[in-house]
Parts: sequence; structure tokens; C-alpha cells
Amino acid sequence: MKHLVRSSGPRRRRTLAILPLLAAALAAAGTALVVTGTANAGTTLGASAAEKSRYFGAAVGTYKFNDNTYMTVLNREFNSLVAENEMKWDATEPQRGVFNYGAGDRIVSHARSRGMSVRGHALLWHAQQPGWAQGLSGGDLRNAAINHVTQVATHFRGQIHSWDVVNEAFADGGSGGRRDSNLQRTGNDWIEAAFRAARAADPNAKLCYNDYNTDGINAKSTGIYNMVRDFKARGVPIDCVGFQSHLGTSISGDYQANLQRFADLGVDVQITELDVMQGGNQANVYATVTRACLAVSRCTGITVWGVRDCDSWRGSDNALLFDCAGNKKPAYDAVLRELNAGTNPTPTAS
Ligand code: XIL
Repeated sequence: MKHLVRSSGPRRRRTLAILPLLAAALAAAGTALVVTGTANAGTTLGASAAEKSRYFGAAVGTYKFNDNTYMTVLNREFNSLVAENEMKWDATEPQRGVFNYGAGDRIVSHARSRGMSVRGHALLWHAQQPGWAQGLSGGDLRNAAINHVTQVATHFRGQIHSWDVVNEAFADGGSGGRRDSNLQRTGNDWIEAAFRAARAADPNAKLCYNDYNTDGINAKSTGIYNMVRDFKARGVPIDCVGFQSHLGTSISGDYQANLQRFADLGVDVQITELDVMQGGNQANVYATVTRACLAVSRCTGITVWGVRDCDSWRGSDNALLFDCAGNKKPAYDAVLRELNAGTNPTPTAS
């Protein structure tokens, strides 16, 4: 807690403000001032991440696109966007075979106009299915689901850097197995069928499996690990694993080790929905996640799940990097500092 207060913005700015005076004094004395570690320091999340060959993104909602404060922060800080809801099944195929890409296209076109990349989220998921799909089962649901993957991935072909092909298919708790859902009941191979359909529709997008409560080595993350290892062994097309990272006030000590074990299977890893409950450790938790991603060469980027605290799905957790007025929080300073620190391995994947 004390540490957080010490690293807060105003105090840090006061410290920085004396640097020019110090430099002038030293220059007058004929001494070169070398400020180490800041030579390539960026001043925004996106620029700093880019210097480490990574992206720093945010989940967005088109209903906020007319909010000036929101757009100012979004456009200044981030170099990747993901649709918070607009590319989900209920949004993109509200009736069977009737597709609606308007809001998703708007996000893509905003991103492209600003030189940002786009993550796709999510092709298949047990939640936010349209009513018509919730009522299907068996072969009929399987066909509808695979058609959905094909149609949506084809529509956005070439515009999505990484797709969450399947979201949240594993169970919480100690089983390490699949979550029950209408999709799971179509057969255990529904996930690989989805990945194959996505690859056929958009061969250049990275295809990701995405889940939560995978923020360390535990039964759930190990279940996913075993699936990815099996997919790689059998040639099922999978390129990345997304770690949602909806975090509380602390973080597992093996967060980085868990990312690394997936990377060692030959897939990229991405932090896909980061938010952290505000409490004594918020800045430290954000810093730890950022450091972990930079330390794993196949960790290609971080996405936070919203822009300002008041935009967040997490209600009063104040879980994001900007307060409701768009001001940078101590957690923001911590992330930027970590992005600018040291030399970090360049991602090995494109
Ligand atoms: C959430 C959105 O933030 C909310 O606006 C929506 O009402 C429900 O979904 N895991 C995911 C995301 O993969 O799609 C979820 O997003 C948050 C949890």
C-alpha cells in the first residue's frame, strides 16, 4: 500500500521535473548525463508495447464511440482493439443464417483507420448464443456452429490478427475436464472441428483457445494444456492460447511459468481480457502480468477488458487503468513502467 502511494503520478512527475535542471547543471560541469533504460521509452501503452514488438489492446463497445473522453484515451493509448460484445454469436447471427456485421465492421474500420490491429472474439462459446442456437442440439447444432465459424471468419478474413475460435470450454474446479454445454454435448471433437473450419476460412489469422481461471498451473489450465499438446501432436490447427486474466487482488506466483509451459508447446500466448480488482495490490498485479508477458518470448500482447473503470463489466471493482474521468491510475503508471523497463525477448512468432 505504501509502495503504491509512493509511485503515484503527481509525485513521480515532480521527480521527473527536476531532471532537466540536473542535466543542465551536469552539462555545465562538462559531464554527460546518461539516463539508462529510457532510451526507447514510449509514452503510451501502445507505443511502449510496440517497442517490445507486442501489442497493447482494449476491449471496446461501439455504443461508446460518441463519448469524447473515451475515444481520446482509446485512440491515444492502444494499438489493438477487440469487440467486447459485437462479434459474439448473438450479435453476428441473430437469426439462423441471417448475419449482422454492422457493429463489428465499425470496430474493424475504426481500428484500421488508426493503424490498430484487431483481435476477434469469439466464434463459439456457451454464453451469448442467440436464442435459436440455444434451442438446437446434436447434428443440427454442430452444423449451425461450424457454419457460424465459417461465415464469420470468412467475413472478417484478412482483418483479424487473432481469433478466439473457442471460448471457455473447460470446467472450473478440479476435474480438468470440459464444461458441460450444448456445444460439448455435440461431441468432444467440437473444438477441433471449429479450429479446422476457422483455418479454412481465414488461413492467416492466428487461431486461439481462450479461457479464465487459468492464471497459474492448476487443474483447469492443465486440462487446456493437455488439449493443446494433443492438438499439436495430431495437427489440429491451433496457434495461440488466450489467458483472460480477470484477476482479484493478488496473482498466482506461477503466472509466468504457466504462460511459459504453453509457449513451450509451440503456441503463442496472449493476455486477452485483463482486469484487476482495485485494492492494495492493483498496480503490483498489473505490473506482474506485464512483466510476465515481456519475459515470455511467445507472449505477443496484452488486452485490457475495457478503457475506464466505469466502462468495465466488473461493476464497482474499479478494475481498469483509467478512472471514470479518463485519468491515468497508479496501475497505468506501473504497466507503462514495466513496458519501458529493460530489454525483453522479441516474440518469435509474427
Ligand atoms: C462480457 C462483456 O464484458 C459484457 O459486456 C457482457 O454483458 C458479458 O460478457 N469472458 C469473456 C467475455 O470471454 O466475452 C466477457 O465479456 C467477460 C468474460
